[in-house]
Amino acid sequence: MSKSNSKIDQEQIEFLENAQKRIRQKKILYNHFIFFLFISAFLFVLDFILNIGSDLNIYEYSWSVWVFLIWMFLFLFHTFNVFVSNKFLGDMWVKKQTRLLMELQKHKIEKLKNDIASEAKIIASSETFYNKSSLITIIAAADENNVIGNDNKLIWHLSDDLKNFKNLTKDHHVIMGRKTFESMPKALPNRTNVVITRNKNYVGENIIVVSSLNEALEVSKNDSQPFIIGGGEIYNLAMEIADRIELTRVHSKFEGDTFFPFIDLNQWVEVKRDERKKDSKHNYDFTFIRYDKKK
Ligand SMILES: NC(=O)c1ccc[n+]([C@@H]2O[C@H](COP(=O)([O-])OP(=O)(O)OC[C@H]3O[C@@H](n4cnc5c(N)ncnc54)[C@H](OP(=O)(O)O)[C@@H]3O)[C@@H](O)[C@H]2O)c1
Repeated sequence: MSKSNSKIDQEQIEFLENAQKRIRQKKILYNHFIFFLFISAFLFVLDFILNIGSDLNIYEYSWSVWVFLIWMFLFLFHTFNVFVSNKFLGDMWVKKQTRLLMELQKHKIEKLKNDIASEAKIIASSETFYNKSSLITIIAAADENNVIGNDNKLIWHLSDDLKNFKNLTKDHHVIMGRKTFESMPKALPNRTNVVITRNKNYVGENIIVVSSLNEALEVSKNDSQPFIIGGGEIYNLAMEIADRIELTRVHSKFEGDTFFPFIDLNQWVEVKRDERKKDSKHNYDFTFIRYDKKK
């Protein structure tokens, strides 16, 4: 059975159940009415014709009149429930409102998706100013939980990791966030240091200051392999546009406040791995892993 058919069937069942419920409600109301008439007539006969309890007057009305009035109020309330409040607040009404609300949300989500898709196109077209043939490379060291830093400092010291970083990035552009730059004693020598900040007045020695990742890539466009060297905020920005990740996985777990983004293996493929054991110069096992973005 097709999906739309089963939806129609479900709606038909709901309508049928609701119709049956309405019939039951009206039948009960009708019985209530008949019962009310008969009992009221019976009470009037007892009171006014047979004079039973005729000396029992409350506020000048006989007891049977009071019973009649209170019961009539209850009957009117019952009628109101069946014909008025049920119409507005019954199960069907709630279901209908829920369905309308879901339709509305569905349209809003569709609209949002379209907006995001058209914005992505605009961003993609405005990004063509940097050199598409450059190999944009993220370089980072992260622990088993993706921790990369704490209190604006690096956590571990691994001499071979430092050597690897130096070898790979030498003579290239190194792009970093303002906080990473400030966590270092000075700009990295033999590299072009590009620092991203929203602060238009930011200055620093031996650095190029830019206000976005795009601008950083534009100033690096003549570099065949510009490196994005952190920290967490800038890695997050760069994951979409990067072509390669040079990751040092430190095989331990640390306390930290800054993290490397999740590497989605639907998008990235491991192409190289070099495992190192701890020794006198290295307190932890670690592995150099290269990921390339899937085409
Ligand atoms: N293990 C590793 O491989 C590694 C590597 C690098 C860093 N780290 C660690 O990472 C930590 C620092 O990382 P973090 O995430 O806190 O800071 P970060 O990414 O280094 O820098 C963040 C700063 O970049 C600027 N920024 C961010 N997004 C921007 C945008 N869209 N447009 C313009 N400017 C933008 C802002 O500067 P303003 O506030 O000036 O506007 C922001 O405060 C430190 O602990 C560091 O030691 C670890």
